[in-house]
Amino acid sequence: MTSPASSAALETRALAAQQRAYAPYSKFRVGAALQMNGELFDGANIENASYGLCMCAERVAIFAGALAGKRDLEAVAVCTDASPPSSPCGACRQVLLEFAADPAAVTVTAINPKGERRSWTLAQLIPDGFSGRELP
Ligand code: THU
Repeated sequence: MTSPASSAALETRALAAQQRAYAPYSKFRVGAALQMNGELFDGANIENASYGLCMCAERVAIFAGALAGKRDLEAVAVCTDASPPSSPCGACRQVLLEFAADPAAVTVTAINPKGERRSWTLAQLIPDGFSGRELP
């Protein structure tokens, strides 16, 4: 595992990514930034008039990393306007878990533009998650 980028760098990227959210329906703008194999990837939520097709910021970011060939998730930051800052949804937790060799070593930090911050490990957010090791 590469050492995590400073959490400040990830948080700055998540804050900037929030500006690129496309959220005309919910008006809930989300930015994400994450580190995979030492590289940083951004995401923002991208909604659709067919509401079920909306995509979360965290998944946009991790799919960008996966598409770039990265497989080792090291740290995540998410920015919303919520107070207290809101944590990733269950679907995103599961998708993040797919790329976490050690979920207890992946820090997930939620922030908002007011400077509030909450932080967990991915293992805390999705304990006993479906890792795929169960598959035949
Ligand atoms: N959303 C995210 O981007 N990440 C989350 O973890 C929770 C929800 C987005 C999806 C949708 O565009 C909007 O927030 C409202 O649910």
